[in-house]
Amino acid sequence: MDLDALKNQFRSLPLLLTPSSVQGKTYIVTGSNIGLGLECSRHLACLGAGKVVLAVRDTKAKGPAAKQDLIKSLPSIPNLESVIEVWHLDMSSNASVTSFVSRAEQELSRIDAVVLNAATATGDWEEAEGMESTVHVNVFATIMLVVLLVPVLREKYEAQKRKKGMKGEGVEMPRITVVSSSLGFVRRDDLEKMAVARDDGRNVLRDLSDKTKWGIGGTNRYALSKLLETVILNYLLTNTTFPSPQPTSHPAPFPLGTTSVIINYINPGLCKTGLLRYSSIATWIQVTILRLLVGQTAEWGSRNLLHGIAGDESTHGRYLSYCRLKGEDVPEWVTAEDGRAWGELLWKELREEMERVVPGCTGRVAKG
Ligand SMILES: NC(=O)c1ccc[n+]([C@@H]2O[C@H](COP(=O)([O-])OP(=O)(O)OC[C@H]3O[C@@H](n4cnc5c(N)ncnc54)[C@H](OP(=O)(O)O)[C@@H]3O)[C@@H](O)[C@H]2O)c1
Repeated sequence: MDLDALKNQFRSLPLLLTPSSVQGKTYIVTGSNIGLGLECSRHLACLGAGKVVLAVRDTKAKGPAAKQDLIKSLPSIPNLESVIEVWHLDMSSNASVTSFVSRAEQELSRIDAVVLNAATATGDWEEAEGMESTVHVNVFATIMLVVLLVPVLREKYEAQKRKKGMKGEGVEMPRITVVSSSLGFVRRDDLEKMAVARDDGRNVLRDLSDKTKWGIGGTNRYALSKLLETVILNYLLTNTTFPSPQPTSHPAPFPLGTTSVIINYINPGLCKTGLLRYSSIATWIQVTILRLLVGQTAEWGSRNLLHGIAGDESTHGRYLSYCRLKGEDVPEWVTAEDGRAWGELLWKELREEMERVVPGCTGRVAKG
């Protein structure tokens, strides 16, 4: 952690949503039975959201317990029993991801924002749908949710505008906020290693799931998954480096004009959550010591998630950190041509895989 990040850990963060900006709106928060997702949901419920969907993989025990925790902690907020809903979403299963999105499409009349917060940081080599599970959950399933949700959010936004009449003034563009991490920026060397597979003409994502070449390595795999998330989203959503725009030969397929959904990604800072509960003891001890020294509460971290939801059009394709839009927080090797070339290649591979799961899905992200 560099000095800048260290200083940021001790900043007080603003609460960027207000009751008037939240009241009556519908939100989905993934991985919201615990940690940052739970605290983000608590804020949304407290601010008067019309519906908060807790998208969790355990709907028998953890999901209902989280709902009761929220209700108990907010005794003055009415109707939380019906406002908060617990829905099943297991991102290690493609069938679960697709049925979750179908349910959202069918059952929710509006979706104002989705916070893609769920992530795994396992210490074991596990596989999901033929991929190493960290790559599958944190990269493939997260980006697939973006791909499947954009047309759904856009359609509901257009319907809201039609209902309102005229030009739909006052209806806000929906948001998708992906919870990423600055930790990924320490894994630049992994790109060198991935270049071997790329230069041999092999599928890089498949190569990352080859246990004989790669390991979990403490938090290395988790960190790499967060790097890949950032590299891919940066390429997909914005054509320019920031803050000083440079021309690119890898144009973004989904700038804001094509999505009508504001998509940004955030770094929540280092927070005392249970994120490493599935990691090795050695990793857990190491990170717990760091957290005891400079870690913040999950509530503090959740303010970054709310900043993502509050972000206006200028945040599309941008990395938000400590409640600020600060492009220089992303290393140039991510946003400049090399990073964009990686984003393009990884997107090509993800797209092929997604098309296998839901034919035609990637063609529906940009409006026709
Ligand atoms: N805490 C930090 O210092 C920190 C720093 C930077 C970034 N982040 C990011 O912040 C986000 C939230 O992390 P957190 O710290 O709040 O950790 P957390 O308390 O462990 O929350 C992670 C959530 O993701 C869920 N999840 C894991 N695998 C899943 C799957 N296959 N399908 C669906 N849900 C799944 C977990 O469900 P279960 O409870 O069932 O396991 C849990 O609800 C993550 O994206 C993380 O990378 C955290």
